[in-house]
Amino acid sequence: HYHLDHATPEGAREAVAAQHTHPVIPEYEAFDAYRAGGGYETLVRLREGGDWEEVQQTVLDSGLRGLGGAGFPSGKKWGFVRGNPGPRYLAVNGDEGEPGTFKDRHYLEREPHLFLEGMLIAAWAVEADRVFLYMRDEYPAVLAILREELAALEEAGLIAPGFVELRRGAGAYICGEESAMIESIEGKRGIPRHRPPYVAQVGVFGRPTLVHNVETLHWIARVCREGPEVLAATEKNGRTGLRSFSVSGRVAAPGVYLMPAGSTIVDVIDAAGGMAEGHSFAAYQPGGPSSGLLPASMDGVPLDFDTLQPHGSFIGSAAVVVLSDRDSVKDAALNMLRFFESESCGQCTPCRVGCEKAVKLMQADRWDAALLEDLCTVMQDASICGLGQAAPNPIRLVMKHFPDVVGTSER
Ligand code: NAI
Ligand code: SF4
Repeated sequence: HYHLDHATPEGAREAVAAQHTHPVIPEYEAFDAYRAGGGYETLVRLREGGDWEEVQQTVLDSGLRGLGGAGFPSGKKWGFVRGNPGPRYLAVNGDEGEPGTFKDRHYLEREPHLFLEGMLIAAWAVEADRVFLYMRDEYPAVLAILREELAALEEAGLIAPGFVELRRGAGAYICGEESAMIESIEGKRGIPRHRPPYVAQVGVFGRPTLVHNVETLHWIARVCREGPEVLAATEKNGRTGLRSFSVSGRVAAPGVYLMPAGSTIVDVIDAAGGMAEGHSFAAYQPGGPSSGLLPASMDGVPLDFDTLQPHGSFIGSAAVVVLSDRDSVKDAALNMLRFFESESCGQCTPCRVGCEKAVKLMQADRWDAALLEDLCTVMQDASICGLGQAAPNPIRLVMKHFPDVVGTSER
């Protein structure tokens, strides 16, 4: 707990910065400004007599789906959690570890209170006794902002002291998997649990737990305040809603771009200022390494939930990395598997050994297509969690779309 001088926003910011070794605190909308603009009016109104099922319907009508990457309908989760007896908890997944994903950070460093209000609305909706806010430690500015603004919420009487517990991750990618995150919150080593039971039934300390990603909660606040149309009114290429694309790689202006959910890679590259000078578009990672790599020729697919599955990929958290003619898709895929090898929790053999074997096989000049395919099948079918199940995607997609590059053309 810190004692801060709140007299001026500058003073508060300086004080926050001084307590940490690194963070430079960006300009953001602090509590007073957010409140002055009507912030927390929705929360107060709901707490004074709102009907959670009405709010749930509004969230369902907006079409909001889990923006951590899995796309599970957000309103539905509330029903599952409410269906189990209390005490219930809310656990917020702020362990944004998917390589190329930085949208949660983007929102938290600009408008933290939209997220915080959404978090408190969700906690109200499931009658959560406590909130565990699990935030990755690699975002020191975000942690400083959250400490400061949670204190402001306590001071304003909007939350009881200790109602929200801020927990720092310790750098393990797997702790972003919801059940591993829960193990970590409980003070144990972060390894995924078998499902079922789902966390909606058996979550933190064995209690029914609602798990939402940071951006999902940001949108819950906006949907409750502005109505379901804020998402539902946007249509493009037969898809509804908005997506926050984290765009990096060989584009002129990497960053987070809020775009229609039906946007294609061509739209995304356009939004990011086009290709970087001297580069021509060759391939892309649509949604994190687990989504693999797609060729530039697949430029007409809307980058939304469900649209990439038929192609052996998925949009996930919309972490788009653009590769050019100067990049090697073979090296990129190898890099992805090295990442999985290093981040595998080691709990199950198909993933622990599979990632290691894949890395070895992928270092060959010519990939052994039959052996790799065999390995991919075992990993996908027999791994406990999404890490091991999706790790084969880059291998399979590169063999399918870039056979000449990896020497598997004759397959
Ligand atoms: P999932 O589809 O298994 O589950 C999604 C959510 O729905 C979970 O909260 C789960 O508890 C709930 N759920 C699903 N079926 C349920 C049921 N029958 N009853 C009650 N609740 C149910 O997906 P998972 O493994 O949680 O997430 C995978 C995604 O995570 C991938 O698409 C990947 O893109 C993304 N990801 C995102 C990262 C990031 O940094 N944002 C990092 C790594 C992966
Ligand atoms: Fe751990 Fe990998 Fe198994 Fe997931 S699939 S439980 S990360 S070893």
